[in-house]
Amino acid sequence: MKKVIAIYPGSFDPPTNGHLDLIDRGSKIFDELVVAILRNAEKVPLFSVAERRNMLETLTADFNNVRVDTFDGLTVDYANKLNASAVLRGIRALSDYEYELQMALMNRKLQPDLETVFMMPAEQYSYLSSRLVREVARLGGCVKGLVPEIVEQRLKEKWDPAIKLQHARKSKAGKRT
Ligand code: PNS
Repeated sequence: MKKVIAIYPGSFDPPTNGHLDLIDRGSKIFDELVVAILRNAEKVPLFSVAERRNMLETLTADFNNVRVDTFDGLTVDYANKLNASAVLRGIRALSDYEYELQMALMNRKLQPDLETVFMMPAEQYSYLSSRLVREVARLGGCVKGLVPEIVEQRLKEKWDPAIKLQHARKSKAGKRT
């Protein structure tokens, strides 16, 4: 039987519990799920592509049918390259629908065989976005429960130079031993 491969494209800057919830759901309905980070030269991200990849790889290590990759160019071309037959996207609220519908229909125009599958994350994540997480973290607010612990830690390191220095020292000392 044909394996159904899906891609889950996005910016993931940073990955949130909403993204992970969707990865969990997607991993149960597709044979293989590729979390695909867009390398977007037009946006200045908070986390580099390598940092986001590293976080997502750690967070998805326990799923044996999920892997993480990066791409640029059109999503449909990337999906073609992987022989993927579906694009997974999350819809949190009605406000997401218009943008997601536009993208799904444009992708369908470009590649009629590629289906977009929308899934809803758990309702406790329905207001959650990477943009809001970045803003709350930057302004010193608490993001516990909104992002996985390693992401919370990385956000702290971004905004708290003292923590960043402490970690750099620890990893230097670790290399020496
Ligand atoms: O997490 P995001 O930022 O909402 O993800 C948007 C993403 C990466 C899915 C979208 O920008 C995208 O597919 N970009 C690739 C370029 C492309 O294919 N554009 C046409 C899509 S209609």
